[in-house]
Amino acid sequence: MLDKRLQCVASMVRDGARLADIGTDHAYLPVELMRQGRIASAIAADIGEGPAASARQHIQEAGLTERMEVRVCDGLQGISSDEVTDVVIAGMGGETIVYILEQAPWCRQERYRLILQPMTKASELRSWLDTNGFAIEEEHVIRDGRHVYTAMAARFCDKPPSQDPLFPYVGALTPSEDSRPYLEQQLTYLSNKLGGLRCGGREEEAAALEALMKRLNAFMNGGTV
Ligand SMILES: C[S@@+](CC[C@H](N)C(=O)[O-])C[C@H]1O[C@@H](n2cnc3c(N)ncnc32)[C@H](O)[C@@H]1O
Repeated sequence: MLDKRLQCVASMVRDGARLADIGTDHAYLPVELMRQGRIASAIAADIGEGPAASARQHIQEAGLTERMEVRVCDGLQGISSDEVTDVVIAGMGGETIVYILEQAPWCRQERYRLILQPMTKASELRSWLDTNGFAIEEEHVIRDGRHVYTAMAARFCDKPPSQDPLFPYVGALTPSEDSRPYLEQQLTYLSNKLGGLRCGGREEEAAALEALMKRLNAFMNGGTV
């Protein structure tokens, strides 16, 4: 049984997908999807020998050794473009996810679905997706105990960047009771940043940030932004 965060990630993988789970650790996600018969194949990849050994053990215990492969590689560098349809990169910092995507230009094709779950710096990841021609097709907030996460599905569509300064903070989220805790966290982050700008006498940047926070607040409350 997956935890809520991985359940949400799993829900965005397409039925019948050929999956690469990058940074798989114990391979919980691909094993569960394979058990449910939701995916056609899976490569469980990790940069570390230790996590790869855990993945192998879990796959063996699940009796899925014949149907799943474990690879030790940095990001997508050990995966070739014709092996997969869907790529999951979950449980890492947003900057690591960006690094992994930058090293794999083949992901910039419409046929791939990228399911991304950053633990930190989600705004940097969204900015990168936006400026590199990707659309975020769906995004969800997950609450598990005290933790609040976001997970998104992106696809390359060669679109021009939105250039909306609000986009990195909200992505494809919609205002709702589910997204509120995450958006509140974003506001707290921006409020701390605002304090820093004011202390440093950077009034022009502070005014722009304050205007952005007002828009974020209005968005969160379902108003016009
Ligand atoms: C916290 S675990 C996340 C496990 C699982 N994906 C999840 O979301 O629960 C992060 C894993 O990413 C792996 N990792 C970090 N950087 C990586 C990279 N550049 N390429 C592949 N795996 C990486 C780590 O070795 C670790 O096993």
